[in-house]
Amino acid sequence: MTVQDSLMKTDILLHRPRRLRRTAALRRMVRETTLSVNDLIYPLFVMEGEGQKVEISSMPGCYRHTLDLLLPEIQQAFDLGINAIALFPVISELLKDETGTESYNPDGLVQRTVKAIKQAVPDIVVITDIALDPFTTHGHDGLVDDQGTILNDPTVEILVKMALTQAEAGADFVAPSDMMDGRVGAIRRALDAAGYINVGILAYSAKYASAYYGPFRDALDSTPKFGDKKTYQMDAANAREALKEVSLDIAEGADIVMVKPALAYLDIIHRIRNTTQLPIAAYNVSGEYAMIKAAAQMGWIDEKKIILESLTSMKRAGADLILTYFAKEVALILSGNYI
Ligand code: PBG
Repeated sequence: MTVQDSLMKTDILLHRPRRLRRTAALRRMVRETTLSVNDLIYPLFVMEGEGQKVEISSMPGCYRHTLDLLLPEIQQAFDLGINAIALFPVISELLKDETGTESYNPDGLVQRTVKAIKQAVPDIVVITDIALDPFTTHGHDGLVDDQGTILNDPTVEILVKMALTQAEAGADFVAPSDMMDGRVGAIRRALDAAGYINVGILAYSAKYASAYYGPFRDALDSTPKFGDKKTYQMDAANAREALKEVSLDIAEGADIVMVKPALAYLDIIHRIRNTTQLPIAAYNVSGEYAMIKAAAQMGWIDEKKIILESLTSMKRAGADLILTYFAKEVALILSGNYI
């Protein structure tokens, strides 16, 4: 019998991958990806008023908090080891207008909230969103002309004003989620010129026009009143275009690039991982959260296991950071204190 023949015989299989899976300790030893509380960014919704916490119906377990109740929520998250929050405002209809002027009110809801967070929980990283949709009557992320076209450059001018007031209020990072061309560079230049050289930019670089944002738009009452966001957010069918968006944002000065949504776009995260050394964030968006919550409430899936499997897959694909509404649950699970 030749060596070749003997290798073909199953009784002397040289490779038995199952050896490494035999016990829990062995599996832990060879585990390639770990999810850590350090990876998590916790998105939170703030609304005007006092003493209120209103559950978002399409996101069970997620709330719009008034500032006084948001602060203890943030303290609790920080105590659980969560390093960063991403803030989204619920703006009263009375303050919305066609051009989103409230977005750069130095005394607006976001700006006041950032100041209060920085007083109450100074060490947590505060990330503020830059886009006009929470502030416009039409619900689009930019200015709209008579034909319904979203105007790029005039919108960027407003986004810059927004960024400056957020930096002034104390934001550590600003996160443009609007998908206008050139906004990262314009914001970077303006922040630097005003002396905010240490305020970072988390760029929503590959943000897709996605149906997964539905529950978030419920939370903010920001569903577009006409049309859709397809002239600025990316086509779900495109991957090369994501690489182009990422390289532009990096050239314009982004510190962290983001892919959004996450689960249906793991291939995009992976491709970007191969092209940049910058940290990559993945946004586990509202629709991804809602699907898991709904199935878990029906008793159809094991919520805790599905959360860990989903978030681990984002890390395995190449993400360093994950924005997730599950942040507190994950922190509890990882610390062994989840009930
Ligand atoms: C707004 C914005 C959206 C989300 C984050 N920032 C919605 C949108 O673009 O319509 C979605 C987040 C989520 O679904 O969890 N620019």
